[in-house]
Amino acid sequence: MPFTVAIDGPAAAGKGTISKAVARHYGFRHLDTGLLYRATGRRVLDGHDPSEAARGLTPEDLDHPGLRSAEVAEAASRVATMPQVRAALLAFQREFARLGEGAVLDGRDIGTVICPEAEVKLFVTASAEVRAARRHRELSDGTSFEAVLEDVRARDARDIDRADAPLLPATDALTIDTTDLGIEAAVTAAIHAIDARR
Ligand code: CDP
Repeated sequence: MPFTVAIDGPAAAGKGTISKAVARHYGFRHLDTGLLYRATGRRVLDGHDPSEAARGLTPEDLDHPGLRSAEVAEAASRVATMPQVRAALLAFQREFARLGEGAVLDGRDIGTVICPEAEVKLFVTASAEVRAARRHRELSDGTSFEAVLEDVRARDARDIDRADAPLLPATDALTIDTTDLGIEAAVTAAIHAIDARR
């Protein structure tokens, strides 16, 4: 049976960095499930119907250069509230978790909906201000800090308030708060939690 690590949390909390480091450490495969929603959101911006956009995703869609933009993030956050979009993306994510020796999936609902049987569940979070400051540093397009903070808060609210697969820690998740924690310490905490279950 493959070993599954589920890493959930809000935007820019450090999930991606921790997931990549953990996957590298154990030789596990990694899926950034946010990319599926971003690729779907981008196809909707191009005029596709949301559920068709999700059902018809190709590997090339996941490699599209514009997926990290604020416009696509906003579109992703909107399509992510649609149950038919989430349903269309479910099988691919579960299949990814089943293949190989081990897999790390990061997103919003991995520990609660996609892989509720995951051996390790982490909930990575940080204050909205710290997350917005990190995202502001990553975006080099002149967007103001205030605008980024507003965007982070709007996406948090949409993720938390949606009826289908809302953002919340699984009851058996370990929370890692990275507000005052460096990358190395956060990765070490994740590795300790995983080692304890292997
Ligand atoms: O990197 P960031 O945290 O800003 O976003 P992301 O992880 O790439 O996800 C983009 C959007 O997809 C988020 O705003 C969520 O609304 C949505 N998402 C989701 O609903 N469920 C997931 N498993 C992953 C992402």
